[in-house]
Amino acid sequence: MSDKATLEYNGQKYEFPVIKGSEDELAIDIKTLRASTGGLITIDPGYKNTGSCTSAITFLDGEKGILRYRGYSIEDLAEKADFLEVAYLLIFGELPDKEQLQKFHNDIREESHVDEEMKKILDSFPKSAHPMGVLSSLTSALIAFNPSTVDVSSEAAMYHAIVRILAKFPVLVAWTLRKKKGLPLEYGDDTLGYVENIHKMMFRRPGKTYEKNEIVIEALDKLLILHGDHEQNCSTSTVRIVGSSHAGLFASLSAGISALWGPLHGGANQAVLEMLEAIQADGGDTKKYMAKAKDKNDPFRLMGFGHRVYKNFDPRARIIKKAADEVLGDLGIEDPILEIAKGLEKEALEDQYFVDRKLYPNVDFYSGIIYRALGIPTDMFTVMFALGRLPGWISQWREMRLNGEPIGRPRQIYIGENHRPFVALDAR
Ligand code: ACO
Repeated sequence: MSDKATLEYNGQKYEFPVIKGSEDELAIDIKTLRASTGGLITIDPGYKNTGSCTSAITFLDGEKGILRYRGYSIEDLAEKADFLEVAYLLIFGELPDKEQLQKFHNDIREESHVDEEMKKILDSFPKSAHPMGVLSSLTSALIAFNPSTVDVSSEAAMYHAIVRILAKFPVLVAWTLRKKKGLPLEYGDDTLGYVENIHKMMFRRPGKTYEKNEIVIEALDKLLILHGDHEQNCSTSTVRIVGSSHAGLFASLSAGISALWGPLHGGANQAVLEMLEAIQADGGDTKKYMAKAKDKNDPFRLMGFGHRVYKNFDPRARIIKKAADEVLGDLGIEDPILEIAKGLEKEALEDQYFVDRKLYPNVDFYSGIIYRALGIPTDMFTVMFALGRLPGWISQWREMRLNGEPIGRPRQIYIGENHRPFVALDAR
């Protein structure tokens, strides 16, 4: 296999190195394209063919349905590790030993307070505000209370920034939910595990003792792990590109949350549930909605189907589908929405339109059903996604800064007006 690619243009030949990843993926390295060809660039809207970086964090093979964090399969991690171990693995590259994990958790506990003044900011939002907007704003507001930029040349400063956000972000998530529900804002409980503590902060009712439900905590842990990282997706690329200007970690994360919000990305889990509820309210006729999804004159898309990279199946969807069945069974919940979901999935998998376009259920198709079973309101689903993706965003930001990547600044091909004389207002 050649380690060079040749471009022929205007009778001239230009050679570019072909680089190979550790899983044999190949890329033409065009770093010198513009300079060597006197101005040629590539154009690739949506970056469908463009690698923005090399990365040692997550490997996924969309054709084979493989997803690994730092070399470990998502199936193994979802079954054998907990979310905090996976967060450590993603960020620092190796699974922690007992001592490292204990220290990591203790350091996070030490930072789990959020400045009381933040409550005033939260207070100023209407209850009806979308939780993703609130979370993004609160994450941004954290900068005001933690203003120092991270000295990336110092391992200790980097570590401190990381544990601070891993500690404070769950508090913001819990407050976002509690504000929505009109519940008093609370802090965590040092004696609990990371995920259990988040659950308690979100759901404890005033005056009531919090009772741990193993099934719920395990399901939540698994969901967070499955959302941990997904290489250079829209929100992660946003975090990296904002961070590439040397904006701080919290500012970069806040931008990532906004990117995740959209219904074509993390917002799809909310959109899936809303779609299923709409189908139920409309009499449960899945065929009608299948026809709408295929009609090019109808903007309706089957939410939770299709993925930019997974073109055979989404491995996370497989794990989550099984977990949804287990959680609903264990909690004794019979949800008609699940039946509609199963009906839609079956029809889509057998339908030529979906087969031809390789459209399969993605992680969001089933995650909403579990979140609903866990009592999480629909518009909080994407917030839960953000909670799971936090370690991924942090690890990608850290890698980008440690690699000394240049500022992200794509080019364009201008197709607007050529130079024209200015016309004064009176003469227009
Ligand atoms: N329903 C109906 N048709 C679809 C769907 C869908 N959900 N998804 C894609 N298609 C069709 C498109 O209309 C297009 O058809 P055409 O070739 O006849 O024009 C073809 O399949 C290819 O679709 P693209 O939009 O070009 O695929 P792309 O890779 O750009 O988009 C995306 C992927 C955004 C996920 C898309 O499949 C989609 O909108 N899905 C629904 C939203 C969703 O579930 N998003 C969550 C993604 S997972 C995540 O973020 C965790």
